[in-house]
Amino acid sequence: MRAFAVVPETGKAEVVGADEPGLTGPTDVKLRVLDVGICGTDREIAAGEYGTPPEGDDRLIIGHESVAQVVEVGAGVERLSAGDLVVPSVRRPCPHAYCTACQNDQQDFCYTGDFTERGIKERHGFLAEYIVDEPQYLTKLTPELRDVGVLIEPLTIAEKALTQIWGVQQRLPWACAIDPTSRPSQGCNALVLGAGPVGLLGAMALAESGFRTHVYSREPAGGPRSQLVESFGGRYLSSADHAVDDLPTTMGGIDVVYEATGASKLAFDVLEELGTNGVYVFTGVPGRKHPFEVNGAKIMRNLVLKNQVVFGTVNAGSEAFESAVDRLGRFMTRWPDAVRGLITRRWPLEEVDRLLNDPGPGIKHVVALAE
Ligand code: BGC
Repeated sequence: MRAFAVVPETGKAEVVGADEPGLTGPTDVKLRVLDVGICGTDREIAAGEYGTPPEGDDRLIIGHESVAQVVEVGAGVERLSAGDLVVPSVRRPCPHAYCTACQNDQQDFCYTGDFTERGIKERHGFLAEYIVDEPQYLTKLTPELRDVGVLIEPLTIAEKALTQIWGVQQRLPWACAIDPTSRPSQGCNALVLGAGPVGLLGAMALAESGFRTHVYSREPAGGPRSQLVESFGGRYLSSADHAVDDLPTTMGGIDVVYEATGASKLAFDVLEELGTNGVYVFTGVPGRKHPFEVNGAKIMRNLVLKNQVVFGTVNAGSEAFESAVDRLGRFMTRWPDAVRGLITRRWPLEEVDRLLNDPGPGIKHVVALAE
């Protein structure tokens, strides 16, 4: 079969021939891959900055955002059958019996760091015609979501973040996150940093949860991203028009920040502006950049005197995948054009190299492996 692999040692990234995987045990599920989304992590892996091939292999088949179709199941698989559409999760547990997180199927919270990730860390990914996985890592996708299901994986990042935001906001019984149907009151002003797929999906999830949602990004106001944000009821703020220290006044206070740029300087500048009882979520992984100065005393003073909470979040577990499927379904009912507008273009496998190096403008680029 054909696949797309990266050899980190040599920097080679190309379409390769690979053995078609088959069922090796009763709980295996063989899948035909339909769509694979490409993100910043894939580009970093292709550039040799991130990612590790499986032990004993010098190449890594990339791809971790996907939609696939079941072609064959082992005798012990009950929940899935041929023809079902699924979205595979990314992370697999570490082998250590003392890692409570992995032992409880919550490898997104793995303590040891010895987890693996499909298409990223020591396990081949989904940019291949066929893959094999196990049912506990596969979330069923409704057929109506076939064309946009590739957005599920990036949406799970927001899903996991929101669950944690709600956990924190239990301390503010009036904040809208507790009761999304109540009239927005204090605690409901959200700021999303970045208008890429993770930022925009996060913004939609926040807007759907009752937050007055603002998206802060570089593109000038009035452009396609700003129109997309407005189409789901958000407000677009261009950094060309709004300095970071104006944001609290422009927005009427910042209660929640969902950082989705990986730009560390911007992220910390915005942290200085977080409001009283504010929650700040980091989701971006910055590249290896030079250190920069932050106003540590101001940040620390604010954290204490304003009851602020700052946390980072990575990856997502099966519950987040399941709720992301429900959420994407609701998005499609309310804002179908906005959701479809996130997917810029579908590319054939032969053009992945160009897609990684020079995709041109757009939001989410997808490799279409099969109909
Ligand atoms: C993926 C996550 C993964 C993270 C770190 C992201 O691009 O969406 O699933 O945990 O990279 O490798």
